[in-house]
Amino acid sequence: MSNFLSRKKPLHLLLADAEESEKSLKRTLTSWSLIALGIGAIIGAGLFVRTAAAAAQNAGPSVTLGFLLAAFGCALAGLCYAELSSSIPISGSAYTYTYATMGEILAWVIGWDLVLEYAVGAATVGIAWSEYLNNFLTQVMGWSAIPYEWCHSPFQTLSDPKTQEVIASGIINLPALFIVSMLSLLLIRGTQESAVVNNLIVIVKVAIVVLIIALGWGYINPANHVPYIPEPTTYIDHQGVSYHFGGLMGILGAAGTVFFAFIGFDAVSTAAQETKNPKRDMPIGILGSLVICTVLYVLFSHVLTGLADVEFFRDPTRGGEASVVAAITEGMPASYSWLSKSVTVAILAGFSSVILVMLLGQSRVFYSMSKDGLLPRVFSDLHPKYKTPYKGNLVILILVGLFAAFVPGDIVGHMTSIGTLFAFMLVCLAVIILRKKEPNLKRQFKTPLVPFIPILGILACGLMIFGLGWQNWARLGGWLAIGMVIYYAYGRRHSKLKDTE
Ligand code: ALA
Repeated sequence: MSNFLSRKKPLHLLLADAEESEKSLKRTLTSWSLIALGIGAIIGAGLFVRTAAAAAQNAGPSVTLGFLLAAFGCALAGLCYAELSSSIPISGSAYTYTYATMGEILAWVIGWDLVLEYAVGAATVGIAWSEYLNNFLTQVMGWSAIPYEWCHSPFQTLSDPKTQEVIASGIINLPALFIVSMLSLLLIRGTQESAVVNNLIVIVKVAIVVLIIALGWGYINPANHVPYIPEPTTYIDHQGVSYHFGGLMGILGAAGTVFFAFIGFDAVSTAAQETKNPKRDMPIGILGSLVICTVLYVLFSHVLTGLADVEFFRDPTRGGEASVVAAITEGMPASYSWLSKSVTVAILAGFSSVILVMLLGQSRVFYSMSKDGLLPRVFSDLHPKYKTPYKGNLVILILVGLFAAFVPGDIVGHMTSIGTLFAFMLVCLAVIILRKKEPNLKRQFKTPLVPFIPILGILACGLMIFGLGWQNWARLGGWLAIGMVIYYAYGRRHSKLKDTE
């Protein structure tokens, strides 16, 4: 009987691959450049869209506590990422680590699961971009907004807050489809963001967040923060979806939702081969970007929930969309209209860079899976001129485009969070397994207190998955089930490792 169940990519093969690619990469990155890389990939729709959603649906002002829990889980998983990326310094994705430690089936599961992090994540940020585009058109340019039906999914309706009568229904989210298409085409051309552009975007993003905190702090209405942790109730949104609101469950749900805001720090781990001193710089890069973002996020969400009350963020005609700009307009004097305009422009640029990083991450994972034979060759065929996996990028564009155009932001946002949380759990597990199986492997960075830290990481991520509720567990289960069918129909038979059995 075929032993495909236990197929593992031998470490020596992986490390040989790593050495080969190392020849072409220069070690130029310092801990500061890693922190900039991390922040560039991290700050995005999670902060500017999902924070208000978590306050409205889950936790009110205690969304700040949700941020702390999410940061705690990320820090633990981050320590595990740092060890794996310094000991298996190739492509750095959770997929590769799993292939080496837990075998082909789990590697497939994680590769398929990462589609939720990268492709569905890109769609989520695209949908968030669409919200702020409308804001840009109306508030900055003074034009009229794109009609509701052309910038919302068919599963969304707009009701009159007073009469509850449906006044508009979505058909397709064209702006979201537009931005993901443009950026996919850019990726096919092989246009990579230069370090200068990335640093510029990082500075703009951080400056905007700091400005909102500093200027908005004086306009916090203390009444909006009482009670800080709302009494546990059930909240049913205008689409009929119910949530645990308030209490501990509310905080767990908020943590799962705003966890989205931290996704991207794992991108730092992919740069292990280009780092001058990975042993020292990797943990500083991963944990440093996390610490900076956590401080900013907690202060920012404290200000946001102080500028307007929960009802404001629940109302789709007021703060339910483009929530940050809406809250500035609601809670701060009209003389700050320059702030809301600059925030809108900065957000549109900042979201684009996040989408690009995610699309790139997706094409790298599919590229590796295709090289291993688990996906068809189209995902690793390079363009003769641009040297990019262009066919793969086009297939990914179709996938991301379908999610961006036809699925509501809440659903794709939660799917991204739950998929990534699951990947982080496997990364934590991989550290424990690799320590047992390859005790003598050279590790430039070692996760402290193994197995305690990885186990705590698994528990923290598991708690957030629990907080996301059964609909999202079912979506994750359904997604993984589709993946298993594809594996049995294709990957198992075409795997390169099959030939070595
Ligand atoms: N962390 C990224 C964002 O919030 C994915 O957009």
